[in-house]
Amino acid sequence: MAVQMAPSILSADFARLADEAAAVAGVADWLHVDVMDNHFVPNLTIGLPVVEALLKHTGLPLDCHLMITGPDRWAPAYAEAGARNVTVHAEALRSPVRTLRQIRSAGARAGLGINPATPVEPYEDLLAEIDLMLLMTVEPGFGGQGFLDLVLPKLRRARAMVARHGGSVWLQVDGGVSEETIERCAEAGADVFVAGSAVYGADDPAAAVQALRAQAERAAGAAPWRH
Ligand code: DX5
Ligand code: ZN
Repeated sequence: MAVQMAPSILSADFARLADEAAAVAGVADWLHVDVMDNHFVPNLTIGLPVVEALLKHTGLPLDCHLMITGPDRWAPAYAEAGARNVTVHAEALRSPVRTLRQIRSAGARAGLGINPATPVEPYEDLLAEIDLMLLMTVEPGFGGQGFLDLVLPKLRRARAMVARHGGSVWLQVDGGVSEETIERCAEAGADVFVAGSAVYGADDPAAAVQALRAQAERAAGAAPWRH
């Protein structure tokens, strides 16, 4: 599947979200929206009202990453509001099958989030229920953290697992993705790349997305898992 670039607005100016979305509109595939509740992670960001407002101001598909407790309760509403992707964390779900199916039946793609220390193998039987798996490459909660190389072997195992099931689940990396690390991610099996500070910390966010995409496509194209 084609490489997808998802700039994260966590590193954007929250008082100018519509402009910040517009800055990457021509070059990004999805806009990544980090929802944090100060319970699942030690940080508080934005929720459904801001997602609903943003949907009125951007044509970019919203990739909503829910870092919240009680995702079973809250996730379907993001799908109903019009988010293209809704990702819920394995560590927080009580009824994964029911919630993932509710996300899909509300018209969104379903994503499963996996923290750095959470293995992917227990979720193999859920692959048919999801469209993407988000592998955190930092501990969730903050932008601008250092990339955790220890996730790369798990990413390779996730890619092999997905390949056994026909290859139709995207593998997304989130956290510390930059020009220094994106090639390692693509080589190990990622095909969706979230980048916050590497995009919105750059002088020209659109140019940063294009440069990262070129690196990812080159590395993925040469990666053994693509052949
Ligand atoms: C962190 C969030 C990420 C964050 C990544 O918990 O899930 O999406 O925006 O930021 P960078 O790319 O700066 O590590
Ligand atoms: Zn995220």
